[in-house]
Amino acid sequence: MKILHVSCSPRGHASESHRLARKIVGYLLEGDPNAEVVDRVVAGGGIPPVDEDYATSQQAAEDVSREGSARVSDELIGELESADVLVIGTPMHNYTVPSALKLWIDHIARVRRTFNVGPEGKTALLRDRQVFVAVASGGRFSGERARQPDFLTPYLTAILGMIGLHDPTFFSIQGTAFGPEAVAEARGRTDRALQEYFSRYTVATRQHADG
Ligand SMILES: Cc1cc2nc3c(=O)[nH]c(=O)nc-3n(C[C@H](O)[C@H](O)[C@H](O)COP(=O)(O)O)c2cc1C
Repeated sequence: MKILHVSCSPRGHASESHRLARKIVGYLLEGDPNAEVVDRVVAGGGIPPVDEDYATSQQAAEDVSREGSARVSDELIGELESADVLVIGTPMHNYTVPSALKLWIDHIARVRRTFNVGPEGKTALLRDRQVFVAVASGGRFSGERARQPDFLTPYLTAILGMIGLHDPTFFSIQGTAFGPEAVAEARGRTDRALQEYFSRYTVATRQHADG
């Protein structure tokens, strides 16, 4: 099994979303200790903005260049295509995904490679696979205590679905701005949710593997 871990927080290893994503990777490795993990750090300028040729290609009948952003895109799509599981660790920035994750999306959501456009609209070209998203947010965006809109989870669900990755599973640490007690409470709640989810996930995987 190959796991692609896309890391999107500018806070790197100190980040809450990175920590949560690594926990998910840890659970996946428990299920398959021989799994290969590919770490793709997109934060901190890890991915350049898309260039003019790439933008032109997205609206042309064929690619106008194989260089620049097209080359970066080839590499990132290759990583995604060869992964059996995708794990995205991301903070919420301004109600949605951070710009670094948006740049990764701009490179992997590519016409003729991961989706096509026809009279019926956009059709996905990627084989579906399991996707986990680990989100950290300063405030809360779901549940009774939410006091802000959430454009992150519906956006990611829509854009990943556009290329064929349906039904992502979200875990989150919300309320990191409310102090250490709130963080501890959020971590505890998420740990229980992870435990519960992966106890079922492991069983399901084993049943599948056993036929
Ligand atoms: C530019 C920026 C925008 C942010 N916007 C939001 C926001 O809209 N909603 C929110 O709950 N937290 C927001 N935050 C706070 C982060 O989501 C929070 O600090 C989170 O824990 C960061 O996750 P990380 O530790 O994985 O980087 C923002 C932080 C930054 C730097």
